[in-house]
Amino acid sequence: MKFFVDTADVKEIRELNDLGLVDGVTTNPSLILKSGGSIADVTKEICSIVEGPVSAEVVATEFKEMMREAETLAKLADNVCIKVPLTLEGLKACKAIRTQMDRMVNVTLCFSANQALLAAKAGASFVSPFIGRIDDIGLDGMELIAEIRHIYDNYGFDTEILAASARTVNHIKQSALIGADVVTAPPAVLKALVKHPLTDKGLEQFLADWAKTGQKIG
Ligand code: G3P
Repeated sequence: MKFFVDTADVKEIRELNDLGLVDGVTTNPSLILKSGGSIADVTKEICSIVEGPVSAEVVATEFKEMMREAETLAKLADNVCIKVPLTLEGLKACKAIRTQMDRMVNVTLCFSANQALLAAKAGASFVSPFIGRIDDIGLDGMELIAEIRHIYDNYGFDTEILAASARTVNHIKQSALIGADVVTAPPAVLKALVKHPLTDKGLEQFLADWAKTGQKIG
C-alpha cells in the first residue's frame, strides 16, 4: 500500500520524506490556501522533494479551461498528477489528459461507487473516495472503499483506489484491510501510525535494564 501525504506544507513533506514515509503527495485548493504560497511555487517545490506523483488540482469547471489549466500544471514538473473533479466535464478532461497528454490523472471528490466506475472508464490513474467526509454525514466511508475494490476487481480496472480524507489511523488500517492501493492522510495521522503504549513502555524497560548492565555497544 502506498502512502501519500495530504498537505501542501513543504516542511512537513520534507520531514516525512526523510523518514521514508512518502510515496506521493496530494494537494487541493484548500491546502494551497493553507500553505500561503502560490500553486506554481508550492507544487514545484514539492515535486523537487518527492519522486512520486504530486496531485495538483484544476479549478476550472469546464472542459476547455480545465485542459488549459492541466497544461499549465503539467509544465511545473514531470511528476505532477493532474487532479480533476468527478463531474462530466472532469471525466471528459480525464480521458483527454490521459490520451493526449499522457499524464497521470487523479479524479477527486468521489462519493459513490458509480462515480468511481465512471472514473475508471475515463482511464483515471487514481480515484479519490473521501472517507472522512462520508463519515461526517453519518454514513460509512469504508463501505465505499470496499464497494469500489469489489467493482474494480470484477472488471480488472487498473485505476488505483486512493483512499482520501483519511482522518484517523483506523481509516488507514481499514483501507489496508480492504485493499485500497493508496491512502492519503495528513502528516499527523501518518506519524500516529507508529504509536503504541506498549512500545513506549517496553523501550523504557529495555533502556533501564541496559543502563544497569554498564555496557556499551561499539
Ligand atoms: O484528500 C482529500 C482531503 O484533502 C480532504 O480531506 O479532511 O478535508 O475531508 P478533508
